[in-house]
Amino acid sequence: MGIFSFLTQEIAIDLGTANTIIIHNDKIVVDEPSIVAVDRSSGKLIAIGEKARQMHGKTHENIRTIRPLRDGVIADFNAAEQMIRGMIKMINKRPGLFSPTLKMVVCIPSGSTEVEVRAVRDSSEHAGGRDVYLIYEPMAAAIGIGLDVEAPEGCMVVDIGGGTTEIAVIALGGIVCNKSIRTAGDGFTADVQSYMRHQHNIKIGERTAEDIKINVGAALPSIEDPPADYVVRGPNLMTAMPVEIPVSYQEIAHCLDKSISKVETAILSVLEQTPPELYADIVAKGIFLAGGGALLRGLPKRLSDKISIPFHLAEDPLHAVARGTGVALKNSDKFSFLMR
Ligand SMILES: Nc1ncnc2c1ncn2[C@@H]1O[C@H](COP(=O)(O)OP(=O)(O)OP(=O)(O)O)[C@@H](O)[C@H]1O
Ligand SMILES: [Mg+2]
Repeated sequence: MGIFSFLTQEIAIDLGTANTIIIHNDKIVVDEPSIVAVDRSSGKLIAIGEKARQMHGKTHENIRTIRPLRDGVIADFNAAEQMIRGMIKMINKRPGLFSPTLKMVVCIPSGSTEVEVRAVRDSSEHAGGRDVYLIYEPMAAAIGIGLDVEAPEGCMVVDIGGGTTEIAVIALGGIVCNKSIRTAGDGFTADVQSYMRHQHNIKIGERTAEDIKINVGAALPSIEDPPADYVVRGPNLMTAMPVEIPVSYQEIAHCLDKSISKVETAILSVLEQTPPELYADIVAKGIFLAGGGALLRGLPKRLSDKISIPFHLAEDPLHAVARGTGVALKNSDKFSFLMR
């Protein structure tokens, strides 16, 4: 580190639909839900991250909670900028006399349009980024998993996030073929919410639906180490009286089946486009799963059985993209796939 290193601060950001993670000096320094709460009339920021999430679905008319990203891309530019700015502030707890020059690497979905890329770059710059590099998310995921993306060998990653599932084949430091679909963790949560309404006549919010998914979510109707039923409380749709319903993982496996099939179809379509030499490498190595959505019980087994190629879950699926973005930050002079 040079004597002027305090003048520049280097950070890597995984700006996700569900969670935003910031890496600084190889450490995760921010890991918060991508959500802000603002005063409805003045637009002033009230809370960001976990604090704002606790208000989500519980607000009165003066407070509005906003999730600035939808389907992996910025949907509310203003809120996104406030969120990035606020999260960067969380690192710099001691206010200095001057703020350091910020160098940052931010990841973007591989299916982003030019306008969407522009939005990420602009909000990063508005939030204080002086030197902004962008990297495609599947590339970051592969690096975070520890794959050698520059080798003359194919590798395949499937990142099931909150808003999008990104599937990509990578070789020689570039994305050879890819697909991004808008079926991912948040879609699974919506499936659970509507299943509870139709099947059990119970009205539940997004957070409860996500709790059900995390506690008894499954991709197969029969799994090893099955979780105990999860008891859900809420109002009956007709009577508004409180009811208690135990939910089993088999039911949730059934309710998620359609959405998981969409992920399978998308993976198969990328395999179809894959050049044969790279295909052979992928069959030999297996396919790597990242993103929070990949934590669904039995998912690697279901995909392996369906596609006949082994699927491996990343060691830390929720942080693979962020860690890879952090590695890219340290190698920004060397990695040609970083975009300025
Ligand atoms: N144990 C779990 N089982 C099932 N789903 C989970 C689990 N833990 C987290 N999730 C889901 O993972 C999703 C968030 O994953 P992740 O943080 O990778 O998304 P993101 O990067 O914010 O979104 P995107 O990449 O689409 O912009 C949420 O939908 C969350 O409900
Ligand atoms: Mg992500």
